Amino acid sequence: VDKWREIEQSFPPLKNDLLLRAARGEETERAPVWVMRQAGRYLPEFLEVRKSHSFFECCQTPSIASQLTLQPIDRYPRLDASIIFCDILVVPQALGMEVLMEPSKGPVLPAPIRNPSDLSRLNQDVDVQKELGYLFEAITLTRKGLGGRVPLIGFCGAPWTLMAYMCEGGGSKTFENSKSWLYKYPKESKELLRKVADVCADLLVGQVLAGAQMLQVFDSWAGELTPYQYAEFALPPCIYISHKVKSILKQLGHPGVAITLFAKGANAPSTFKLLSDPKVTGYDTLGLDWTVDPVEVRDYVGRKVNLQGNFDPTVLYGGKEGIEKEVERLSERWKAAGGGWIANLGHGITPNVKPEDMGWFLECVHKYSKRA
Ligand code: CP3
Repeated sequence: VDKWREIEQSFPPLKNDLLLRAARGEETERAPVWVMRQAGRYLPEFLEVRKSHSFFECCQTPSIASQLTLQPIDRYPRLDASIIFCDILVVPQALGMEVLMEPSKGPVLPAPIRNPSDLSRLNQDVDVQKELGYLFEAITLTRKGLGGRVPLIGFCGAPWTLMAYMCEGGGSKTFENSKSWLYKYPKESKELLRKVADVCADLLVGQVLAGAQMLQVFDSWAGELTPYQYAEFALPPCIYISHKVKSILKQLGHPGVAITLFAKGANAPSTFKLLSDPKVTGYDTLGLDWTVDPVEVRDYVGRKVNLQGNFDPTVLYGGKEGIEKEVERLSERWKAAGGGWIANLGHGITPNVKPEDMGWFLECVHKYSKRA
């Protein structure tokens, strides 16, 4: 028997498949809903765990990662998906870079890659099982803990977003180190992006074999690029990843999973055209940020691809009435847009949100996304 089959058979059956149906293009009876960073600092139970464990200790300890993943699922029965607790920056770590998470600053990479000669510092031929096996273990453990309540999403960062962190050494306002690479060293940039993409693909395959039922690739800094740069540098390695993942899974006899591309801010009409056909891109679903309207995006992308999004994360500070009005308004736009819709925020939930407001938001999505 294949190993993945054996693992899959050890899990309880899935009771709520709304997410998977919407990702296949079905106009579901209501929109499945989950929230990026749903396991995070707005939850007191998360902060409690973080008191005694560093951020990456949480990622690297399967029992803790699994516990954190389940926190929002236990608290909010209205969530329709879980996403494994981890971080996109585990890929630079696997490539040999040090990554710290500093309480006030966010991620810090003390030795960034500043020119092509620094590439030799990166590990060659990364063994993801050895470097990131803890994530696979966390996934298998979490599928058991979920008991079939909702599907589990696996993820990775997109090569361009990871390159940005690797070159900048952390977050940035100007992206001058990473973007100057694209102008000065286009060839080496592509080599770096491909190298990162190979690790990402192996990481996604490992997550699926361990039990992830859907995947998302986070290109959080796609919007820093010109449409030309997006098409030339950022998108090709993402397409490489999805195709590599799908072809390896196929070779292993695995039926495959839907993959979402969240290219935040990559909202040029020409970019949407490039992303419109899952057969070409390998992405079944596109994640949208809150700056676009679903009906307009549907016009650009057509009907082959499914969409996810796109509530303004700040709506969660809008009070009960404000939340309800906005969920009602945007749900109507989504229904008008047609096709598969997975409800989500247009970016991660932020730390000052009150847990009860998140609960109310989910309640409202259940109510207003219903199709007549
Ligand atoms: O969505 C989830 O619930 C799953 C867990 C998850 C985390 N990070 C946990 C996390 C996921 C999917 C990510 C992805 C991630 N990490 C992205 C892509 C999504 C996005 O937000 O654009 C990016 C860019 C990162 C890198 C990263 N990690 C940053 C910039 C930060 C600091 C920003 C902040 O919110 O302070 C992190 C830290 C991080 N990753 C936290 C969590 C819960 C908070 C840190 C903490 O607990 O101290």
